[in-house]
Amino acid sequence: MEGSDESVFEARLTKMLSASKLVKSIYYFESIDSTQDYANSLPHDKSLHGTLIIAKNQKMGKGRIGRSWISPHGGLWMSIVLVPDFSIDNLLFTQFIGALAVAEAINEITEISCRLKWPNDVLIDGKKVCGILVDVNLESEKKTIILGIGLNANVESSFINNSINCDFKATSLIEEYGNDIDLVDITDSIINKIEYYYYNLLRTGKSTEILDRWKQQSDMFGRRAVVYDGTQKFSGEVIDLDNNGSLIMRLDDSSIKKIIYFNNVSFS
Ligand code: BTN
Repeated sequence: MEGSDESVFEARLTKMLSASKLVKSIYYFESIDSTQDYANSLPHDKSLHGTLIIAKNQKMGKGRIGRSWISPHGGLWMSIVLVPDFSIDNLLFTQFIGALAVAEAINEITEISCRLKWPNDVLIDGKKVCGILVDVNLESEKKTIILGIGLNANVESSFINNSINCDFKATSLIEEYGNDIDLVDITDSIINKIEYYYYNLLRTGKSTEILDRWKQQSDMFGRRAVVYDGTQKFSGEVIDLDNNGSLIMRLDDSSIKKIIYFNNVSFS
């Protein structure tokens, strides 16, 4: 007897990722509140490194800056736990690793070229196809990072756009590519790329390759942007990223401002 779609998906994913150096265990859910919350609820010790939580749909998906994340069936909703041995200064590079890995995996599978928007949105033609959420837990003995990836794969973007009131427009891979995306193939490709960048950072302690590649895939530099840091809005021109991944802007009064990770950026 043939298995259900879910068990076939799970079996294929487990088989594909059995060769992965990074993924040690997989939790698979047909439906869950949030893979990110589930990962956060697990006991945070070193054995959690490489745990992948993946769900077909999320009832209470979490986005950045307290937003909700619409996560219907057909999307790729996953969180991966990393318990890195590298310095705390490198922790935030995982957000760039996530966005780069997704953009490269999309390109590998569909040949679509995505662009990246700081800090970690993946865009196609200016519309958001994927968001990355990074939770860093500094309290446990070992620092843990939960890298959450929300990819609008086989979903209707109108459903997402009608469900949220946001400063961005969403798109989906199926709409941009014109064909169904195999969620197992794209998960495998994303994980392979995360693995590459993560172990590279671990081995070399250097983030140069990650930052250089990220910058090459972004159209932000030289453009005007407005950054909201939760209390104040800053407007000016985007100049560069510094070595820590902060955004460097020249504000309208010509002063230079470094914007750190959690702020929100919109472009004019
Ligand atoms: C963003 O706001 O751009 C980040 C969205 C991140 C969504 C993903 S979906 C998998 C994981 N679980 C969650 O609840 N959120 C992240």
